[in-house]
Amino acid sequence: MRAFVTRDLPAPALDRIRNVAEVDVWPEPGPPPAAALRERVRDADGLLCLLTDLVDEALLACAPRLRVVSQMAVGVDNIDLAACARRGIVVGNTPGVLTETTADLAFALLMAAARRLGEAERLLRSGGWGSWSPLFLAGSDIHHATLGIVGMGRIGFEMARRARGFEMRILYTSPRPCPDAERDVHARRVTLNELLQESDFVSLHCPLTPATRGLIGAHELAAMKPTAVLVNAARGAVVDQRALFEALRDRRIAAAGLDVYESEPLPMDDPLLTLGNVVLAPHIGSASVATRIRMAMIAADNLVAGLQGRPLQYAVAMP
Ligand code: GLV
Repeated sequence: MRAFVTRDLPAPALDRIRNVAEVDVWPEPGPPPAAALRERVRDADGLLCLLTDLVDEALLACAPRLRVVSQMAVGVDNIDLAACARRGIVVGNTPGVLTETTADLAFALLMAAARRLGEAERLLRSGGWGSWSPLFLAGSDIHHATLGIVGMGRIGFEMARRARGFEMRILYTSPRPCPDAERDVHARRVTLNELLQESDFVSLHCPLTPATRGLIGAHELAAMKPTAVLVNAARGAVVDQRALFEALRDRRIAAAGLDVYESEPLPMDDPLLTLGNVVLAPHIGSASVATRIRMAMIAADNLVAGLQGRPLQYAVAMP
């Protein structure tokens, strides 16, 4: 059997795959271009990919032997699940192990945006620190503020648990009620509009689906408080990025903390880069060494199970 792995992985993960298959690893630090990906999957029985690799109908058409796609990430919006299902290809992902690491990063963005840490550091490094003065770099309080969580899944729940440590009030939206969140962190389920109007911080934790694409646009941003902060460590396309830029530029909301963008890497001429009131991270939500190793091991195990025709430990539900 043959497997194509689209990026170098920690050695134990590759060893696990090598036990059952001949492994071809993309040798470059960036993702394989579409043409190279098409070429490399031609005789592959399994594909281990990242969220930067587009697995669509056109790619699958080039991979007649493929029986498993194992993604080293929890989000699978880069994979055409319906096309995989039509071809009998199983898909795996890596939920669970990255939940707390990602919530840590989302909370860090919330804090950095609220307390203007990016601006503060840039100012100090550029010699702009004059003296202590009453409203110098004054931001917003986090403790006792209201946090609105859009998408109370695993990561949203961990975000809420962190927020409770700061005695925040928690509101949430979710397709279904989340009794655990209501019991453990006293979260209250509200409509999106109520959440936007009442929250001091709005943090996005929903997957990118046709229903959530563009969920936060000009209308939703206009419903937020002018003092509010938006945090997005989910997927960039959940937010209309142009509308967000305009809301931040015109101070219709106070600040944002972003880890994800409509287009990644964020182009260096993106207007968000001209703003002081946004903290920008390069999609590092799950990027702790321990978590990334665990993700690689799960992705390897899912791949091996699929190659051997066994059920995947973490199989994505197919449409
Ligand atoms: C990262 O964004 C992931 O989906 O795991």
